[in-house]
Amino acid sequence: MPPPPLAILGGNPAFAEPRHVGTPFIPPRELLHASLDDILDARWLTNNGSFVHKLEQLLATRHGVSYAVAMCNATIALQLLFRALGLKGEIIVPSFTFIATAHAAIWEKLEPRFVEISPETHCIDPAAAAAAISTKTAALVGVNLWGQPCDVARLGQIANDAGIPLVLDAAQALGCQIKHLSREQPTAVGAVASVISLHATKVVSSLEGGAILTNDEALAEELRRLRNFGFAGYDTVVSLGTNAKLNEFSAAFAIRGLECLDNIIQHNRNIRLMYQESLADLPGVSFHDPPTSPTANHHYAVLMVDPTDCPLTRDELMLTLWAENVLARRYFYPGCHRMEPYASRPASWQPHLPATEAVAASVLVLPASSAVSPQDVVLISQRIRQALQQHGDVRERLQTSASA
Ligand SMILES: Cc1ncc(COP(=O)(O)O)c(C=O)c1O
Repeated sequence: MPPPPLAILGGNPAFAEPRHVGTPFIPPRELLHASLDDILDARWLTNNGSFVHKLEQLLATRHGVSYAVAMCNATIALQLLFRALGLKGEIIVPSFTFIATAHAAIWEKLEPRFVEISPETHCIDPAAAAAAISTKTAALVGVNLWGQPCDVARLGQIANDAGIPLVLDAAQALGCQIKHLSREQPTAVGAVASVISLHATKVVSSLEGGAILTNDEALAEELRRLRNFGFAGYDTVVSLGTNAKLNEFSAAFAIRGLECLDNIIQHNRNIRLMYQESLADLPGVSFHDPPTSPTANHHYAVLMVDPTDCPLTRDELMLTLWAENVLARRYFYPGCHRMEPYASRPASWQPHLPATEAVAASVLVLPASSAVSPQDVVLISQRIRQALQQHGDVRERLQTSASA
């Protein structure tokens, strides 16, 4: 039997309810309710409570570091980390990242210097990072994109040779282990600290939240003070600080999520493989598939739509899927350097980042994660196949509705 017509061509949408990228994972409700009761019984809602402590221990163990410092979100965590490290001047960052990486620097009066990514990994290109280092450079910032590590060994070596720290925005990479070092280990190669996000769209969440991972005890202490108004101890304020604390409900939510993390990762891996296999023979589309780290979380299914070989453009395919209630997304498009406040800077400032722009123009992230079932993948893949097969009709319909 032929498949039903595409929604864009007059058929019914594949799904009655939208399928999103990054639908939140909801841990088992009875366990959440039990944690909630414990919090309410204890009448301890925030300020370094026992759930935040437990979450920090679990995160530290899971990532193989000595310290995890929970925060209200990853953006503020990045800011406080930059501040705690005393960075001044420029930081080198990839432009293909969530805008928060760059904005966090600006809030801390640092200048982001955008550099290229490697088209294979989508992570910062170590050679480009090395070439961008100058006397103004305060730190290298790698981003562990798509739940996988960037090239920490090479970046750490480059940072080490330049006498600057390597810091990682690991917001998307909860569960992914990388080598961390303390500032007392100048010859070691690794990151001084990394920042994970526990935002609702991440592999496991605390609704809003984040954490800084490090092996540096003094840095962890400093970060604890910074997140709590500069308090050291019961009522002594020793420095400037802010309120970046995580509350107990959020911590409990994340703890229950972490208990399920291994199963979620297994599910994510299966979903991604299913997509990959079912779309393997289609022209002009492929899956982003760098050599995977054993601890990658596989939270994102990243389809690459080749502008020359694919019969539809990335955006045409996206709109066709939207009509099916499949809310596939562009990511980081068109690159941070082309977003404000960076895009309107003078031409002499604008970086030349062709690899970044090509990747940003090709990426289409498909619904994946715990809310997407294998049956969903079959249906979504079938609609992608149909869309490419019927590309002439699809394009015509899109053009007609755009001019209407
Ligand atoms: C790469 C990257 N950096 C930073 C952030 C910011 O995280 P948060 O939403 O927890 O502030 C995100 C999350 O959306 C991200 O993907």
